[in-house]
Amino acid sequence: MEHLIDCKNIVKVHRGRGIGGSRKGFKALDGVSISIDRNESYGLVGESGCGKTTFARAIMFLDPPTSGSVLFDGTALEQLGRREMRSFRKRMQIVFQDPNSALNPKMSIHDSLSEGLINRGIEEKERIGKIKDLLELVGISYAYKNRYPHEFSGGQKQRIVVARALSMEPDFLVLDEPVSNLDVSIQAQIINLLSDLKRELSLTYLFISHDLNLVSYMCDTIGVMYKGKIVEEASSELLVSNPLHPYTRRLLASIPGGGMRSKVNSIELEEEDADILAARAASRQGIHGFKGCPYYSLCPLGDDECISSSPSLRDIGGGHVVSSGHKVSCHKA
Ligand SMILES: Nc1ncnc2c1ncn2[C@@H]1O[C@H](COP(=O)(O)OP(=O)(O)OP(=O)(O)O)[C@@H](O)[C@H]1O
Ligand code: SF4
Ligand SMILES: [Mg+2]
Repeated sequence: MEHLIDCKNIVKVHRGRGIGGSRKGFKALDGVSISIDRNESYGLVGESGCGKTTFARAIMFLDPPTSGSVLFDGTALEQLGRREMRSFRKRMQIVFQDPNSALNPKMSIHDSLSEGLINRGIEEKERIGKIKDLLELVGISYAYKNRYPHEFSGGQKQRIVVARALSMEPDFLVLDEPVSNLDVSIQAQIINLLSDLKRELSLTYLFISHDLNLVSYMCDTIGVMYKGKIVEEASSELLVSNPLHPYTRRLLASIPGGGMRSKVNSIELEEEDADILAARAASRQGIHGFKGCPYYSLCPLGDDECISSSPSLRDIGGGHVVSSGHKVSCHKA
């Protein structure tokens, strides 16, 4: 299958991290490479602060990567001028977790949706029809078009945000924790809407979440991120049924009820001697200070090899789909 987006070795250093931050900046992404096929849904999962949003913003060049390459539909985005980038960016839209900050409170829904259509040069007559279609697509009555954001519930607002993203007719949608601000009862409705839209409009998704259970339900492939690196990647089915990285196992074990398909038990750290505790402390200090495995400070399997060298992501095969094997970054996998 053809990749829609191919991200190679994406590095992002955030400058000026403030008190306690290194003067060199903070390396939030440390060489992330992922590819997403057309019509695929790729789930990026990992704990808060691991770099998920940084990655999304970097590959869309909203906050460009420090180094690395993004091939979108065969075009290297880093080589584009500003005008060309603008036209490419229409094809890539992002939905953030908080619909309140995404919608202008002073704009009616009609006006919010019109903006992108005007930007695309669509005449008023045609715009009316498009707005009707977009609202219908996300399950909001056209009769509400003159209402303002505060007149809608959180779930309805997120539907409108999705409609606005779709008004640009994108082929790639980044969904950055799209339901984590919503009531649990509403989350499933939005997830179902996103699944339906993907099918109806042949969209490609990068679905970002800290919830591995949700991602395994929603996505074809999952990448597990830890401290700015992908530590495991496989089809959802394989990753959940046969997790290889100790961090993935911990994420699965933390799902109440053991997750949908996982039978992995929680692994506890044992009592350690002073040397090991010192190495664990060094590991916790982050990417700059410690040469070993970034997960060493929390890993129940770590040993001398893990202190002296950082494992790289390698394909150990085992995929049911030819194009997606099983990649893991662990000396013991
Ligand atoms: N503009 C910025 N300047 C400096 N540091 C930043 C900036 N944006 C993010 N960071 C830092 O980069 C790291 C990754 O942040 P990021 O927001 O990408 O994480 P995340 O995985 O999306 O987390 P969450 O699940 O909480 O949304 C964090 O340590 C964060 O503090
Ligand atoms: S390389 Fe070592 S420390 Fe890192 S995850 Fe694997 S076993 Fe744990
Ligand atoms: Mg984030």
